[in-house]
Amino acid sequence: MAIIMDGNGRWAVRQGLHRRQGHRHGFGRLPDIIAAGAGLGLSWLSFYCWSTENWNRPVAEQYCVLGLIRRFVREQLPTWQSAGIRFAWAGRRERIGPHLRAELSRAEEATAGNDGLTVCLCVDYGGRVELTNAVREIARESAAGRLDPETSLDEHIQAHLYRPDMPDVDLLIRTSGEQRTSNFLTWQTTYAEMLFPPVLWPDFTPQDLSEAIHTYAERDRRFGALPPIRSTPA
Ligand code: IPE
Ligand code: IPE
Ligand code: MG
Repeated sequence: MAIIMDGNGRWAVRQGLHRRQGHRHGFGRLPDIIAAGAGLGLSWLSFYCWSTENWNRPVAEQYCVLGLIRRFVREQLPTWQSAGIRFAWAGRRERIGPHLRAELSRAEEATAGNDGLTVCLCVDYGGRVELTNAVREIARESAAGRLDPETSLDEHIQAHLYRPDMPDVDLLIRTSGEQRTSNFLTWQTTYAEMLFPPVLWPDFTPQDLSEAIHTYAERDRRFGALPPIRSTPA
């Protein structure tokens, strides 16, 4: 499952607050949602925290959000350890500052052996860049004669994603009512069910999460095939 946490700015403006307060409250929602996800038995929960396009925001907002991510990971690490939660980071390594990079890598290493829910923060993540990198690597391997391009290329693409172990997304939720994916998990969401609840992210509750899962459970997923034939009573 994956969540685009959108609407922090609008939430703040509606309360007469600064946008950074919206981001602060937005990150404040995460521990409850993660605990609820673990309680519901999810295996993988990804959150869109910072996109490759978010660098177009003012520098002050960049510092604010990236600082909140760093603090959040540092503060949550002991909780994740005791709950058996595994932490993963999906995103570009190069542009992120060294302190945040170190914090994210440290959390990944420290929780690598945990076997509960995987919480994946997508930080400096963009689906296009992820796929472009994968294709570049494959081209290099092919040119070096290490890869036959005629064999199962989809497995090679998967192997070069930021987190090759990330399963396909079954359910994608984007809060705030915007109906687009904004460059999120392009490869992984090809058959995802999508929900666009109007609630702004800082107001999103564990109740909203379980309602979304109930809605998902009622969806008819066909993957291009025909719906199962319902047996008629004799
Ligand atoms: C999502 O909230 C958080 C990030 C993109 C970092 P926004 O900041 O996009 O909130 P709105 O869309 O302006 O309300
Ligand atoms: C997507 O939200 C990125 C994150 C939630 C981190 P944006 O608010 O940045 O996306 P657009 O600009 O509305 O598409
Ligand atoms: Mg937004």
